[in-house]
Amino acid sequence: MGDGGRGRHLLGIEELGAEGLRELLDLTDGFAEVNARPLPKVPALRGTTVVLAFFEDSTRTRVSFETAAKRLSADTISFSSSGTSLSKGESLRDTALTIEAMGVDALVVRHGSSGVPWQLARWLGRRIHVVNAGDGWHEHPTQALLDCWTIRRHFGGLEGLHVALVGDISHSRVARSDIAAFSLSGVDVTVVAPRTLLPPTLEGWAPGPGKLSVSGDLDQVIGSVDVVYLLRMQRERQTESLVPSMREYSARFGLSAARADRLRPGAAVLHPGPMNRGVEIDPEVADSDRSLVLQQVEAGVSARMAVLFQLLGADRDAPVGADLVGGLTGVPALDPAGAR
Ligand code: NCD
Repeated sequence: MGDGGRGRHLLGIEELGAEGLRELLDLTDGFAEVNARPLPKVPALRGTTVVLAFFEDSTRTRVSFETAAKRLSADTISFSSSGTSLSKGESLRDTALTIEAMGVDALVVRHGSSGVPWQLARWLGRRIHVVNAGDGWHEHPTQALLDCWTIRRHFGGLEGLHVALVGDISHSRVARSDIAAFSLSGVDVTVVAPRTLLPPTLEGWAPGPGKLSVSGDLDQVIGSVDVVYLLRMQRERQTESLVPSMREYSARFGLSAARADRLRPGAAVLHPGPMNRGVEIDPEVADSDRSLVLQQVEAGVSARMAVLFQLLGADRDAPVGADLVGGLTGVPALDPAGAR
């Protein structure tokens, strides 16, 4: 979002800067309050259209964006490569320009190739807001936002915390965005992974005051961290050949119940989903009180509302509740009859 978190697009985390990130987390507080209302819907983006273009499989991110847009009263259109002219050989650029010509306001895009949201933002110029919902191995900024918000809510703040990020770092867009967001928020991160699942260098991954370190031994770090964040083995990206066996991976890097017992009191366990129960996380741990996995999903809707509101609300002549950044008191609840 560039300039202090208020640019045209949300593509990556670093461009937000610490202040832009904090602003979005504060806005998320307000939308969490909206989502706790009996009728969790506000008219803020009525009359706008959000296109959800998911060229890669997704459950929670797609449904979460769609829910977020609808709770802001935006219209939504879902789009994927199968069933569209992309499968007839139309280029991504022509498809994007066609969508734009229909007058949509925002394009939320997930794509298997890194960099696609940046390319779309260049092609679509200043007329449409592009939101990155995950590009290849590269970035997943709204996941990082919801993770930071979930942790901030649990601990009451972020600065000074220590997170162990465990697993497939090199193929994970969640790892890249989370490390940037944690570092900007003053959270130290230790990545814990076999060498084969680490990128050749982590230089430039931590742009803020939070420090980044590397360990190959989960048992050594488990007792001293506030959060264990487990990453999914990206089997569709052929990562299985990079570890001797899933069994051995699980024995060395999985969060078993015995390992979870050695966590500090109050320490939390996060996972972006979808979980491979029994591989990176023991089912008992996934369902324990330490697990914030479902809180993360819940936070996802509020965080994505904050992003869409901040990008699209600024276009409106008289944005409903433009005074909102400090709280959503200005956003009237929809009159129940008008919400249907
Ligand atoms: C992640 C993704 O797709 O990048 N999932 C998600 O968005 N919740 C993580 C993953 O697939 O492992």
